[in-house]
Amino acid sequence: MNLSIVILAAGQGTRMKSARPKVLHPLAGRPMLSFVLDAARALEPASLVVVIGHGAEQVRQAAGEGVTCVVQAEQLGTGHAVQQAEAALAGRAEHVLVLYGDTPLIRPETLRQLVAYHQAEGAVATLLTFRPDDPTGYGRIVRDVEGRRLLGIVEEKEATPQQRAIGEVSGGVFCFQDGWLWPNLARLQRHPGGEFYLTDLAALAAGQGEAVAGFPVADPLEVIGLDNRLKLAQAEAEMRRRINERWMQAGVTLIHPDVTYIEAEVEIGADTVIWPHTLLQGRTRIGQGCILGPGAVIRDSTLGDRCRVELSVVEGAIMEEESEIGPFGHLRQGAHLGPGVHLGNFGEVKNSYLGPGVKMGHFSYLGDATVGAGANIGAGTITCNFDGRRKHRTIIGERAFIGSDTMLVAPVEIGAGAKTGAGSVVTHDLPAGAVAYGVPARVKSLPEGEEPEVG
Ligand code: UD1
Repeated sequence: MNLSIVILAAGQGTRMKSARPKVLHPLAGRPMLSFVLDAARALEPASLVVVIGHGAEQVRQAAGEGVTCVVQAEQLGTGHAVQQAEAALAGRAEHVLVLYGDTPLIRPETLRQLVAYHQAEGAVATLLTFRPDDPTGYGRIVRDVEGRRLLGIVEEKEATPQQRAIGEVSGGVFCFQDGWLWPNLARLQRHPGGEFYLTDLAALAAGQGEAVAGFPVADPLEVIGLDNRLKLAQAEAEMRRRINERWMQAGVTLIHPDVTYIEAEVEIGADTVIWPHTLLQGRTRIGQGCILGPGAVIRDSTLGDRCRVELSVVEGAIMEEESEIGPFGHLRQGAHLGPGVHLGNFGEVKNSYLGPGVKMGHFSYLGDATVGAGANIGAGTITCNFDGRRKHRTIIGERAFIGSDTMLVAPVEIGAGAKTGAGSVVTHDLPAGAVAYGVPARVKSLPEGEEPEVG
């Protein structure tokens, strides 16, 4: 499509009552601006410019690489904002699409239809229109007496009582002919409040006898501008509905979608079943046939196929296929469960690898540990990994049997197949096959032919 796109994102968003620039408030875990950028990119524009101003550096960072940002130093209105993009855009494409950074629910299909309509009508300016239940705050569309020709847009604060009664409003999205836009932008007059309104271009074009078209958007939510927290919550609900619908269409079962929260970047395999009150956040990847929830919170984690998470928190972790956690478990940053690991009630794992088939049933903490395949971690086992100054590692060999309530004082290594008795405090390495118990733990037996070390 022969199109340039400019996204206006310089405004402060006073009604958000926030230190954060409005367009960076998150929706489904991502800044709202990123959804507008996605919709814009879907149209494959020749150039894409974001006008930044309030919180410029933060917004520039969020816009990411490959996006040209131009600064509007003073926020003198939407018309003035588009002017800032002239040097970057004029003459680059036949048409210019103007989007707002605070309307993240806009769909690429709608934008495509708008541009096609604009071209078909041969209009110099085409805008998205809609009829909200309450038009307060929006620019009202003024038409001729027959209600056909679009004559202009009147902003709320300048509208007469009769104009305020008009139900048709501007959604803010405009498509212009490039050759017409730039010279006419320079003709905009300042309003008493000091602003240049982009919307004044409609009357300017109509006055020149040029065609101005209004393209009605079917779903008004698409153009909802998120300028306060109530609208933010409304948009969050809509975004959640769209995301959940997409995953259900892709073969994921959501037992109760209204209370299932899946952020925009999450990916889920087919035949996974998600029970209520589950949150999937950040860069999370879920395999096929998993059972998540009720009450699973999974953030920035990767789960293989057929995993299970019940009433547990999993963050920055990896769970390989058929591993399970819960109820009441916590995998923290760097926890890595190998295939078929079982983590039962009240377990916590941080920065540790648990090999295939490890069992850790009850009340245990493993931090900075490596556990070999098939080891059994008895109830109440703790890796004492912190000496008050530094963290130390614990290594547990394959098939080791760690008795209930064992304290493993790191750094320490338990050999393959070694056993510790209940209540042991292990302060020295144990050789493979050793049996040790006591406080501090002493080696009581070794595999045949080996002598316990003295000391
Ligand atoms: C604007 C329209 C109104 C329309 C409504 C739809 C104007 C004058 N009014 O009003 O007709 O019904 O959108 O939501 O255009 N921005 C800048 N720089 C500025 C001013 C604004 O970048 O100097 C950006 C804001 O960050 C925001 C967008 O433009 O993303 C819209 O600005 P806002 O002030 O919210 O316009 P509305 O009052 O909603």
